[in-house]
Amino acid sequence: MPYHRILVVGAGLAGLRAAIEAADGDVAVLTRVHPVRSHSVAAQGGVNAPLANVPEGKEDSPERHAFDTVKGADYLADQDAAELMTRLAPERIYEIENWGCPFSRTPEGKIAQRPFGGAGFPRTCYAADRTGHAMLHTLYEQAVKRNVRIYEEWLMLDLIVSGGRCRGVVAMDMVSGRVEAFGAEAVIMATGGAGRIYARSTNSHINTGSAAAFCYRRGVPLKDMEFVQFHPTSLYPNNVLISEAARGEGGYLVNRDGERFMARYAPKAMELGPRDIVARSIQTEIDEGRGFENAYVHLDLRHLGAEKIKERLPAIREIAMYFAGVDPIEKPIPIQPAQHYTMGGLDVDKDGASELPGLFAAGECACVSVHGANRLGGNSLLETVVFGQLAGAAAVRYVGGLEKTGADGPALDAAVAEVESGISGLLGREDGEKMAVIREEMKQVMFEKVGIFRTEGPMREAVEKIRELKERVKRARVEAKGRRYNLELIGALELPAMLDLAEVIALGAVTRTESRGSHFRRDYPQRDDANWLKHTVARWSPDGPRLEYKPVVITKWQPEARKY
Ligand code: FUM
Repeated sequence: MPYHRILVVGAGLAGLRAAIEAADGDVAVLTRVHPVRSHSVAAQGGVNAPLANVPEGKEDSPERHAFDTVKGADYLADQDAAELMTRLAPERIYEIENWGCPFSRTPEGKIAQRPFGGAGFPRTCYAADRTGHAMLHTLYEQAVKRNVRIYEEWLMLDLIVSGGRCRGVVAMDMVSGRVEAFGAEAVIMATGGAGRIYARSTNSHINTGSAAAFCYRRGVPLKDMEFVQFHPTSLYPNNVLISEAARGEGGYLVNRDGERFMARYAPKAMELGPRDIVARSIQTEIDEGRGFENAYVHLDLRHLGAEKIKERLPAIREIAMYFAGVDPIEKPIPIQPAQHYTMGGLDVDKDGASELPGLFAAGECACVSVHGANRLGGNSLLETVVFGQLAGAAAVRYVGGLEKTGADGPALDAAVAEVESGISGLLGREDGEKMAVIREEMKQVMFEKVGIFRTEGPMREAVEKIRELKERVKRARVEAKGRRYNLELIGALELPAMLDLAEVIALGAVTRTESRGSHFRRDYPQRDDANWLKHTVARWSPDGPRLEYKPVVITKWQPEARKY
């Protein structure tokens, strides 16, 4: 059985940065895909840091960045965490620059910065529109240089808890179908978001959230899961991301009447309002009949000119041409909002520590919380490197303080046996409905009833539906019975965990009787600080989530009306 003092699960930016930090000790990374296929590679527009590198950004500072983050979060972010993130931002960005990340440059040779939504200054550092790709390859090189052991194409299937602390994970080698326990003293979860719970998502198919759900089932609480970000501009009809960089570079949003309709919703910020407001504005235009085919509006880049589009937005042009047959130099791009980011996640502190000793989390699967009710574009990549580093350092300190270490053999054996028995049961079932049907129903109900606009009735129906699906999934079957790279089996092993997350999202949403950031209720359209300036904490129980609440940390900025 493999054993490492520190095991990182997930090899995107947060996981690799954590592993690099812990590389002097005995650290390994377990990942369901090759590291450079992690979803971080799909991040396009950039990473925020208050570097003040461009003339329009000279007044920028960590404090201004923190304020924008807190306001963008509709005041649900913990302000001490937001301040920490923005204070550490320059250090992390210059570090990755020194490691060779090929950022785009100003004429003087500094890291270039572009405007992004909800930001007071141009502070988004970028590598054209392939920033995640550039950063991920850089961190992967650093991990390889440090001889970090990487277990590729291993899917986490359970968290091992013994003696009141985390002792490793159970995982399946997807290539052979073999199940093994990985013993560890500390596990750092860095497994990304849960976008694939929704129909219409910009997320990779690997973003199921199942790994975080396995931790939830073992007693680690989830925080603020009802806050789900819809990116304003995904390509119609397949929902590939069309970066906010397109608006940062000056793109217009236009309805079928040729109007730049953002003037109605965010007259000062226009297309560069925060994502929650821009996504709702686009959806309103579509719902009120001012979109095209009742489905999309236009993102018009033509006035930027061919040269700028080719230099700054080459991937956007390629995506639009390849998937929609539209060259943005000549025609507007059809776009619609789509699920993009999970603001909530495993409840952790600023060191990434959860309440379970030995279990840490960083990146999108974690909720520190810096994004509150609505994340600003460009803050997710920043979060990965800042809190990945902090979690790696905290895990090193934690294992250094343990008196006795070594694999907990009996606990590991028992955990493998439990997972194996579940797999045998599943493969042995000859009748029942197909898992894929249940998965599609879950995705549709979440998109339609717990989506951009929410009301009590449909959300209650969604909770009921998810509970029905949780029962049905116990009797469902897989048709492909082999163990080698059986994607149907993998999907079936993840689906019950995804349904647990869907239930937490829907229940948290219907219980929160206010509108805040991405959580917009037509029946409660105002923010209600008197009753709801608090985080939702969901604990697993056999009867469904138990919801508790905890205060938001306010340091400097009292909540006020958000105007853009
Ligand atoms: O629009 C984008 O490029 C996405 C950036 C982000 O989610 O931070």
